[in-house]
Amino acid sequence: QANERESMYLVSEYAQKYFSEILWDTELGKAIGLSYFKERGFTDETIKKFSLGYCLDNWGSFTNAAIEKGYQLKYLEATGLTIVKEDASNAANTKMFDRFKARVMFPIQSLSGRVLGFGGRILTNDKKAAKYLNSPESDIYHKSKVLYGIYHAKQAIAKEDNCYLVEGYTDVIQFHQRGIENVVASSGTALTPEQIRLVNRLTKNITVLFDGDAAGLRASLRGIDLILEQGMNVKVCSFPEGEDPDSFAKNNSLEDVQLFLKENSKDFIQFKASLLMKQAANDPIKRAETVRDIVNSIAKIPDRIQKEIYIQECAQIMNISEAVLFNTLAQIGKKDE
Ligand code: CTP
Ligand code: MN
Ligand code: MN
Ligand code: MN
Ligand code: MN
Repeated sequence: QANERESMYLVSEYAQKYFSEILWDTELGKAIGLSYFKERGFTDETIKKFSLGYCLDNWGSFTNAAIEKGYQLKYLEATGLTIVKEDASNAANTKMFDRFKARVMFPIQSLSGRVLGFGGRILTNDKKAAKYLNSPESDIYHKSKVLYGIYHAKQAIAKEDNCYLVEGYTDVIQFHQRGIENVVASSGTALTPEQIRLVNRLTKNITVLFDGDAAGLRASLRGIDLILEQGMNVKVCSFPEGEDPDSFAKNNSLEDVQLFLKENSKDFIQFKASLLMKQAANDPIKRAETVRDIVNSIAKIPDRIQKEIYIQECAQIMNISEAVLFNTLAQIGKKDE
C-alpha cells in the first residue's frame, strides 16, 4: 500500500517538524527540552543537524495540532505517534494521547533521510519509567532494518572505510559533534543481518564500541558472529567503567578520542578468545566451552585463509593445539551441511 505508507511518512515528517518547533520556539520547549540537550553538551548546530525535538508534557497537544492540520488519526495511530483508547460502551469517550508525552525526541531516519520513527527520552533519571520509548513497528518502521544515524554517517563510512557501531542515540550524536561521523547505533536492540548489510554496502570494516558497563558485553559477543558471517572485518573496543562513547567524547578532545580508539580497538576473535579464557581461568570445563565457542565464531568466517590464520592465533591464545581446533572446525562444517 504505497499511498498508506506515504501518508505515514508525511505524518512522521510533520511530527519531526512539530517537535523541533516546540523545542526552539516555545517557552516550555526551550526551558525543558533545549536546556536538557544543552546540558548534555550538544550545540545548536548539532541539535539542528539531528532534528532533535521535544514533546510537551500534556495529553495531546501534538495529536491535536496534527489533526487540526488535516492529518488523519489512522496514520497518527499507525505510526504510533498517537495512542487511541476506545471506550467500548461509549464511542464519544474515545481518548487520544501523545505517545511521547514529556520526552525529548530523536527522529530515526532512513538511509535516504526520511523520518521512519522516533526515540523519546525522559528527562529525569527516574528508574521506574522506561528511559527511552521507541516508535512501535509499523509499515514504515522496521527496527531490524534500521540503524540510527546511517543517513548522516553514510558518506563518512565510505570515505573512512570503517564504521563505528555504538549502542545509543547520544553516542552517535556526540561522536559527530566531536568530528567522528562514521558512526551508527543499533539502538539497544540485538544486531540483525539486515542492519549489517546496510553497513556492508559501504565498508567491509566495523568497529563495535561497548559501553563500559559490561552488562551486555557477553550477550553482544554472540551478535557479532553475524558480522563475521557477512565476510566483514570486526574490531571491538570497550570503554572505561562507567563511560560510554557519548560521555567519553563529551569529556575528551578529538585527538584523545581518536588515540583511545586506536589503542583500544582489538581484533574481535582475539579479544573474545582472551576475554573468555581469562573468565574460564583454570576451570577445564569452561575452557573447553570457550574453545568450542571460539571455533564456532571462526567457522562463520567465509574466507579460508583468514580461518586458518585465526586458528593459529587462537591456538596460542588458548594454549591448545592447532590440530584440535582444525578438527573441531571440520566437525562444525559437517553439522552445517
Ligand atoms: N534503549 C531503549 N530503551 C531503554 C534503554 C535503552 O530503547 N529503556 C536503547 C536506546 O536506543 C539507547 C540504547 O538502548 O540509546 C543504549 O542504552 P543505554 O546505554 O542505557 O542508554 P544511552 O544511550 O547511554 O542513554 P543516555 O546517555 O541518554 O542515558
Ligand atoms: Mn512492511
Ligand atoms: Mn549501555
Ligand atoms: Mn550508553
Ligand atoms: Mn549514555
